[in-house]
Amino acid sequence: IVKVLEVSPVGQSNSAGDFFELKLEYPDWDGWKPGQFVMIRPTNWELDMLWGRPFSICSADGTSLTLFIQSVGRGTSRIAKLVPGDEVTVWGPLGNNLAVEPDTPTLLLAGGIGIAPFCGYVEQHSAPENLKLFLAHRLPLECYPYEALCGKVDGQSMIDRKPEDLKAIIATLKDLIREYAEQDGLILCCGPTPFMKTVQTFANEFGARAQVSLENRMACGVGACLGCVTKDGEGHHVQVCTRGPVFWTDKVEL
Ligand code: FES
Repeated sequence: IVKVLEVSPVGQSNSAGDFFELKLEYPDWDGWKPGQFVMIRPTNWELDMLWGRPFSICSADGTSLTLFIQSVGRGTSRIAKLVPGDEVTVWGPLGNNLAVEPDTPTLLLAGGIGIAPFCGYVEQHSAPENLKLFLAHRLPLECYPYEALCGKVDGQSMIDRKPEDLKAIIATLKDLIREYAEQDGLILCCGPTPFMKTVQTFANEFGARAQVSLENRMACGVGACLGCVTKDGEGHHVQVCTRGPVFWTDKVEL
């Protein structure tokens, strides 16, 4: 059980559904790898909200832990209303991590809140000049931690509001994935399932080395409840919380 240090909006025009940065007191941190997540549960939640919620780790420095949260449902909007001094149960770091190849051109493909794991990825990467970030988003750009990342990596963003936006995004994804496949680059993707499916389709078509980070609903985070199950490339059921959340695109069914 740890204390909340800060809850602050990301960007300037936050309204319901936007991002918040949650900073928790977190001493004795054991170390973490980009792509891993923690489960958190405010200690004052009612019994019908027994389980925690998973969040990607954005940064942790031995004294505090920072997470980006989008208030999209009952649990996350309650978390966004926490105030400094409130208590939260945290367990983690959990799951596997995103591949890191410092000398390889690496493309980070984010759909909306899927940008969250890339905050920690960019922070820990030893050669951010080899990273390119692509963000497809619906909310105004300032609602995402995009500008802060673009100070460190090459960034490109596209808004997804109308059918023609979606077509343009798919065409751009196809070009980018083909380009990175041709140079044997690494592609990492996180976002809504249709976004990841599109990336998986092009990655498999072009033989790209690509990983997706799944955002399945989770309850326990440790492989016990089977609430997060998906299928691997051979059709076997696997728990996303312990075998993932990161999978190679040719080894998972989306
Ligand atoms: Fe319980 Fe994965 S969240 S098994």
